[in-house]
Amino acid sequence: MELKGKIAVITGGASGIGSAVCRKLVEEDVKAVGVVDLTEELTQICAAANREFGRDVWIPYRGDVVDSSFRERVFADMESRFGPVTLCVPAAGITRDRLAVKLHKDNGSVTPNIYSETDFRRVMDVDLIAPIYWSMRTVASVAVDRAKRGLKEWRPEENMQGAIILIGSISSAGNRGQISYATAKAGLEGAQATLAKEAIYYGVRCAIIHPGFTDTPMVRALGEDMIRNQILPNTQLHRLIRPDEIAGAILFMLKNSAVSGSLWADAGWHPRA
Ligand SMILES: NC(=O)c1ccc[n+]([C@@H]2O[C@H](COP(=O)([O-])OP(=O)(O)OC[C@H]3O[C@@H](n4cnc5c(N)ncnc54)[C@H](O)[C@@H]3O)[C@@H](O)[C@H]2O)c1
Repeated sequence: MELKGKIAVITGGASGIGSAVCRKLVEEDVKAVGVVDLTEELTQICAAANREFGRDVWIPYRGDVVDSSFRERVFADMESRFGPVTLCVPAAGITRDRLAVKLHKDNGSVTPNIYSETDFRRVMDVDLIAPIYWSMRTVASVAVDRAKRGLKEWRPEENMQGAIILIGSISSAGNRGQISYATAKAGLEGAQATLAKEAIYYGVRCAIIHPGFTDTPMVRALGEDMIRNQILPNTQLHRLIRPDEIAGAILFMLKNSAVSGSLWADAGWHPRA
C-alpha cells in the first residue's frame, strides 16, 4: 500500500516506538501525522520535528488516550483539515509492574498483598481499551468517507484503503511481574483478529506486532541492573532493540497488503520459565 499522501494518527507519538513510527511516516511522504500524547513537551517536540522536516506534518494533540471526547476531537480536527484518517498505530502505553501476589509478614501473622485493582484497571484502560477505540475510530473514518462517496463493500480491484497496527508485546505470552500489562497485551490479539475480519469490508487491514525489549524510556525505567542481568542474557541479540527497528517493521506491516496477522520482533527472547 502506498503511504504517500495518507493521513495517520499515532498515539504515544512523542517518545520511543511511537515517535520512531511518526518519523518513518514522514519519510514515506504522508500528508499529516496526528501525534497524540500526554506529555507537556508535545508542542515543542512537534515544532522541532517540523522544522527539521521543512513542513508542518506532525500535528500535536495533547491529551489522555483514555478520554473519548479527546479522541473524538482529534479525529474531527484531522478529518476536517486533511481528510479521512486511514492509518493508525495506537502506541501509547504504560506499565505498572509488580508481582501478582506478595505476602506481608507482621508480628507472626501473614496477610496476602494482591496486585492493586486501581493499577490493573488503569493499565486495561490505556493499554487495551484505548488502542482498540482509536483503531475502531480509524475504521469509522474510512467507512464514513466511503459512504459519502457512494462506495459499499471494498473490492480487490480498489487500492487498499487503510491499515492499523496494534502494539502487543512479548509479555502477551506471560511475564513475571506484569500481570496487568501481559493481560492487556494478550487482549489486543483478540481485538486484532476481530478487526482484521470486520474492517476489510472497508478495505482496512489490521495486524499486531509483538516487540521485544526496545531501548525506550519505558524500558530504561527498569534500571540498568535489571536490563543487564535479567533482560539481555535472555535475548539472542544481547542488546536492546532500537526503536527504529520496531518502527521499520511496523512500516513494513502498514505497507505490505499481504500482512494480516502478527509479527514477533523479539530479538530472540527466551526467558527462563
Ligand atoms: N519498549 C519496549 O520494550 C516495548 C516492548 C513491547 C511493547 N511496547 C509497547 O510499545 C508502545 C510504546 O512504548 P515505548 O517503549 O515507546 O514507551 P515510551 O514510554 O517511550 O512511550 C510511550 C508514550 O506514550 C505516552 N502515553 C502514555 N500514556 C498515555 C496516555 N494515557 N495518553 C496519551 N499518551 C500516553 C507517553 O507520554 C509516552 O510518550 C507501548 O504500547 C508499549 O507497551 C514497548
